[in-house]
Amino acid sequence: MTWVEPTSTATALLLLGRGSDPASERGVDCPGDLPTPSDPDLVARATAAKAALGDRVFVLGHHYQRDEVIQFADVTGDSFKLAREAAARPQAEYIVFCGVHFMAESADILTADSQRVILPDLAAGCSMADMAVLQQVEEAWDTLAELGIAESTVPVTYMNSSADIKGFVGRNKGVVCTSSNAERALRWAFERGEKVLFLPDQHLGRNTAVRQLGLTLDDCVLYDPHKPGGGLTAQRLRAAKMILWRGHCSVHGRFSLDCVTEVRDRIPGVNVLVHPECRHEVVTAADYVGSTEYIIKTIEAAPAGSAWAVGTELNLVRRLANAHPDKQITFLDRTVCYCSTMNRIDLPHLVWALEELAAGRVVNEITVDPQTAHHARTALDQMLALP
Ligand code: 13P
Ligand code: SF4
Repeated sequence: MTWVEPTSTATALLLLGRGSDPASERGVDCPGDLPTPSDPDLVARATAAKAALGDRVFVLGHHYQRDEVIQFADVTGDSFKLAREAAARPQAEYIVFCGVHFMAESADILTADSQRVILPDLAAGCSMADMAVLQQVEEAWDTLAELGIAESTVPVTYMNSSADIKGFVGRNKGVVCTSSNAERALRWAFERGEKVLFLPDQHLGRNTAVRQLGLTLDDCVLYDPHKPGGGLTAQRLRAAKMILWRGHCSVHGRFSLDCVTEVRDRIPGVNVLVHPECRHEVVTAADYVGSTEYIIKTIEAAPAGSAWAVGTELNLVRRLANAHPDKQITFLDRTVCYCSTMNRIDLPHLVWALEELAAGRVVNEITVDPQTAHHARTALDQMLALP
């Protein structure tokens, strides 16, 4: 096994950001009695509670979840695959979502009203999703309307956004996308309008527009919701093809060009494989770019003995390294750590949620109000129908 552990001080770091605040500071303490992490029976307890629930429960696990949680997932996947899996399980009374809040919201929107979606820790948010708030987006849309360009603009939101934002996009004839289908979503949007307002991840929007649609960096402008008019002149907004929201992932945004240079010097012949949430210069310098599912498939298909530096979340990279001891797999940046909000879902929270459900008590249910859900569903269905 050639896994190179990032520095111990780095792995101890927590990524800071609104989505990564401790639960107590966000007012979402666990409402019940959590088992202690040192309880030696946690695995047995989760196994027993899940067995007692049988087919009534379906556990979804995002690839960035901890191993201790992933072992209980009925299916693992990226956000696109998990959205489809949630929609394809009408028989499950409870969907336990081991992922983050926006994913659980999407599962609630895509499942039947009778199904209940559970997020084992309500503090599992996403700092990127928090960077686009409905009121800000409505104000930005008003700005575009005042300039007379809203009607020729199609809003596209990354799955990593709140249900409110997906609802806005659905109301305004747009589409949701994930990192697996962003190119298809943008092509669909440009068949219907001259411009795209891309929310909330500037990097996925820019990388897809430039690398896959052949637009230039000059075709893209960055809309800062904290500045009047987005900090852009009317002329720049009118000329732009891609209006990128100023949001980013605090995990992938930390990989730098220096990381790529350093790993190429350290490991001759290394293949650099990154997620499109990384910055444009990192993606440009990489050898392979793609969604979480693409990253997994690329490593699986790689020949024994090949060397890989992977720029995505650490739980996944470590799992890939363990699963492929015949390949040299290293983390792209030795100082980057886990997604702290993904990591909120740990075994004690999962045990607690499953045992409560087995006892007939529904805890930490994620519900989206019917009107928002209706419009968000329109945008999600449009994504699922993309060619
Ligand atoms: P995907 O699951 O679409 O690859 O997105 C990565 C991510 O950051 C999820 O939070
Ligand atoms: Fe959000 Fe990034 Fe964490 Fe995904 S990895 S949940 S986008 S902060």
